Order: sequence, then structure tokens, then C-alpha cells
Amino acid sequence: MIYIIEHLEPELFPWCIIEYRHITKILGKANVLFTNIRRKKDCDRLRGFARAVKESFTTLDLKRVCVLDPAASKVLSSSDVKEFDTIVLGGILGDYPMKARTKQEIPSGYERRHLGKEQMPTDNASYVARDILAGKKMSDFTFKDGITVELGENEATDLPFRYVMIDGKPLMSGQLVELLKKGF
Ligand SMILES: C[S@@+](CC[C@H](N)C(=O)[O-])C[C@H]1O[C@@H](n2cnc3c(N)ncnc32)[C@H](O)[C@@H]1O
Repeated sequence: MIYIIEHLEPELFPWCIIEYRHITKILGKANVLFTNIRRKKDCDRLRGFARAVKESFTTLDLKRVCVLDPAASKVLSSSDVKEFDTIVLGGILGDYPMKARTKQEIPSGYERRHLGKEQMPTDNASYVARDILAGKKMSDFTFKDGITVELGENEATDLPFRYVMIDGKPLMSGQLVELLKKGF
């Protein structure tokens, strides 16, 4: 299975780089491709740790593609591993309330699946999709809707997204916590 992250933000923000590095670590460099990285300097930056191209996945000759979209009507299941060769996720920052950007910005004509109706950060969605396609069920995960990240002695920030819990902790890059501490 190849996982594609279609970058849909206007810039390659520092949080994108951190999240994309985390996704590459979760899925393995050979299994993930970052697409729609328009600026050469951004491609070069990502190529330091990942595979990246300037083209949108929509221009690549791909077959048996599934877009992961919280607005999809069908849930991703383990049997989908036989249906698809490519899983596409949006390189999109979570927004609250959800603006359905995956639905709007990734053209229609592709099969779509959801991982529950709550939005997860892209790294969490990648982790859950990988495990579902390896045989896990949604009911095998522990999720937490909305987390609080401690930033300092008297400071914290709430992130209103769904996180998968691993050993009692939300799946989140330590580098992202550091970025939040610096004020994003
Ligand atoms: C932070 S989410 C962005 C959601 C975005 N705010 C929207 O309105 O579609 C980033 C990406 O992770 C994937 N994703 C996150 N939660 C998902 C879910 N519950 N079901 C399917 N895909 C999900 C999708 O590919 C999505 O484009």
C-alpha cells in the first residue's frame, strides 16, 4: 500500500514539516509520498527525510485510489486492503468547527472512506488507517476527543481533535509540543 499526503495548505508551515516527518516515521519512508509541494525549496526541504513531488496526486497515473475523508459515507475496513493500492490523506491543518476541506479540495471521482466522523490530525489518521488495513478494527483503538497540552507552569492549550491513545498518551510528535510551547 502506498500512502499519499496531498499538501493542501498555502505554505509548508513549520507544523507541516514536523507532522510530515512524524508520518514518515509512522509509515516508513518507502511507503509514503508527499504530493502537491509546489515550491522547489519546499520539495528539497522534505526530501531531506521523505519522498516528495511538486505534482498533485490527481495528475499521477494511479488506479485503485481511496481518499480518507471524514465526510465519506463508508468506514475504512480491513477488507479494503484488497480494493485499493493507494490511500490519500489531506495535508490539512485541523480546523474547528470542521470546514470539510477534504471533501471540497480533493476532486470527486475517487472512492472515499472515513475513520469515524471526528477529525484526527493527519499523522493520527495515517496511523489508524495503516493498522486498519493490517487487520485491526476501529473498536480496537482507544480514542480521546480533545486533549490539553501543558506548555509551561501555568499554561496549556486545548486541541479539539480526536487522538489515538497509545500507552495512555495521545499520539503526538514531541517536536510539535515544542513548537506549541514556542507559540506555534
Ligand atoms: C486534520 S484532517 C483535516 C480535516 C479537515 N478539517 C476537513 O475538514 O476535512 C487531515 C486529514 O486527515 C484525514 N482524516 C482525519 N480524520 C479523519 C477521519 N475521521 N476520517 C477520514 N480521514 C480523516 C483526512 O485525509 C484529512 O484530509
